[in-house]
Amino acid sequence: MKLTGNTILITGGGSGIGRGLAEVLHGLGNTVIVAGRRRDVLDQVAAANPGIEVVELDIADPDSITKAAEQVLNAHPDLNVLLNNAGIMLPDDAASPLDEATMTAQVTTNLLGTIRTTSAFIEHLERQPDATILYNTSTLAFTPLAQFAVYSATKAALHSYALSQRFLLRNTGVKVQEIVPPWVATGLVGGDEGQAMPVEDFIAQVIEELATDSEEIVVEQARTFRDNAGPGEHAFVTESNAYMADLLKE
Ligand SMILES: NC(=O)c1ccc[n+]([C@@H]2O[C@H](COP(=O)([O-])OP(=O)(O)OC[C@H]3O[C@@H](n4cnc5c(N)ncnc54)[C@H](OP(=O)(O)O)[C@@H]3O)[C@@H](O)[C@H]2O)c1
Repeated sequence: MKLTGNTILITGGGSGIGRGLAEVLHGLGNTVIVAGRRRDVLDQVAAANPGIEVVELDIADPDSITKAAEQVLNAHPDLNVLLNNAGIMLPDDAASPLDEATMTAQVTTNLLGTIRTTSAFIEHLERQPDATILYNTSTLAFTPLAQFAVYSATKAALHSYALSQRFLLRNTGVKVQEIVPPWVATGLVGGDEGQAMPVEDFIAQVIEELATDSEEIVVEQARTFRDNAGPGEHAFVTESNAYMADLLKE
């Protein structure tokens, strides 16, 4: 996508990767609106970056999506980029009966919430001469982390959804791009003992790659995990989970 002159809505733009991208894209000359549930966090981003706008949005609530979409499109009829970044990551135990609330919250937010948000903007974006829908998935979409089985599954499903949507939009002005982060040092899971990539480094690499029209933005640290498809998948997933199990024990 082009890196300047866009009007961009970033879900989950109040913290972590979303905030990092919001600040850099704002600095590059885009109109940026950050969305999320915590108004105080969004207001902090706006205060630190005059010009960034905020909208309250809970993507787990369809009515909130409808309301926020109306608000954003009324204020910004030129909106041309939707960055689906909001997500939650909760541990689970796929070897035991699952906690209903943990499971449902992640599917409702990460998968249904993202799809519903895209759906609320899709007709508008198709009317724009040059639009982009971005999905922030994860390397865990390709190499699941066993202690986060439902989370990994929601990201795999989102990747699949993006593939279908990209095909269907191939003859329109709407590009679909996917960001595939490795472990990045945000507040998402915590527990970072230095293995996670610093947010600023990640954002800098993503911005560089965003400028290309590549379908996937995969930084160097994510490459091995993203490229895990194929007959070696089972051995690779076992090996990387054994490594992570040791790491998480420490
Ligand atoms: N950090 C990593 O290692 C990593 C790796 C791969 C992928 N990712 C993905 O990157 C994205 C951003 O995560 P992050 O690492 O930057 O963590 P983060 O700082 O916790 O960001 C998540 C954001 O999502 C928002 N959010 C959560 N539930 C929401 C809801 N129902 N409605 C609207 N907004 C909601 C949160 O804001 P509110 O709480 O204010 O709503 C928060 O700003 C997520 O999709 C995550 O899965 C992260």
